[in-house]
Amino acid sequence: MAFSQVQIIPMSVPEVIVGAEAMRAWTRRQHASGRRVALVPTMGALHEGHLALVKKAAEIADRVAVSIFVNPTQFGPGEDFDAYPRTLDEDRAHLEGQGCCDVVFAPAVSEMYPLGANLTWVSVDRMGDHLCGSSRPGHFRGVTTVVSRLFAIIQPDVAVFGLKDAQQFFILRRMTREMGFGTELVGFPTVREEDGLALSSRNRYLTPAERAAAPVLRRALLEAEASIVSAGQRKAASVVSLVRSRLAAVSECREDYVQLVDTDTLQPVSDLVPGSRVLIALAAFFGKARLIDNVLVDVPQG
Ligand code: PAJ
Repeated sequence: MAFSQVQIIPMSVPEVIVGAEAMRAWTRRQHASGRRVALVPTMGALHEGHLALVKKAAEIADRVAVSIFVNPTQFGPGEDFDAYPRTLDEDRAHLEGQGCCDVVFAPAVSEMYPLGANLTWVSVDRMGDHLCGSSRPGHFRGVTTVVSRLFAIIQPDVAVFGLKDAQQFFILRRMTREMGFGTELVGFPTVREEDGLALSSRNRYLTPAERAAAPVLRRALLEAEASIVSAGQRKAASVVSLVRSRLAAVSECREDYVQLVDTDTLQPVSDLVPGSRVLIALAAFFGKARLIDNVLVDVPQG
């Protein structure tokens, strides 16, 4: 064969699998060869934040699977399920360019919900009621159900999630421990734009004015952290008032919630206990985009 006829196939092109059985067989082959498998669950529309998780996954496992599935059961009525970007070809190109992903699992809805109307749910009590759970009833039940189904199909040794969705991470961590899936969970820090805005697939909904205003979320959270760490604030209500006032000062921003919660239970705290770790989480609307952000704060001793 002449050299010009040799087809060069880059090793990094991720295979796309759409069937649950084929996906299960893929992991079985990896495990039979003694390879450790990492899963990065996503809904696609991949950005640098997702790619950072994939890179992390490649550092801690021998093979990386990325799932791309816009999960209908975690969207409420009137939310953006239909409008949610579906960009599989671009996503695959990003993953190919990065070279860390071995397989993309991109099932159809009928593959993940094979019997139509879903009757089997996995839900974690209480932890999904506050924060995003207040304005998105049923959201976390959809997340825990789909992630447990992904774990059942793919059986990853480790799964990487972003701390940008901190409530999601802590709920999934609880679920994984209680269900005994045997999958280790790794939380990865939020990847941000230079001005502090957390990368999100929903940032594409922002108008230029809203985009310019959105970094107020990060600024307000850093100020809140400093009030605890440097200025000795120990009243959650005062921290909430501080953040609220910063958000209220920006006309493009409409607050959804600001709350301080315990990281193990996600229950609201009122007095900040020295030595404890607290999550300050918020959500706010900028036009039709609902953005979330958070900071984890270690309350200083004394
Ligand atoms: P999705 O919003 O696509 O996010 C996939 C993963 O990327 C999540 O773990 C999320 O926390 C992480 N992520 C998003 N933006 C990030 C950023 N700026 N920095 C770091 N990580 C970031 O979260 C979901 O999908 C779904 O709920 C899912 C878990 C896939 C279940 O359907």
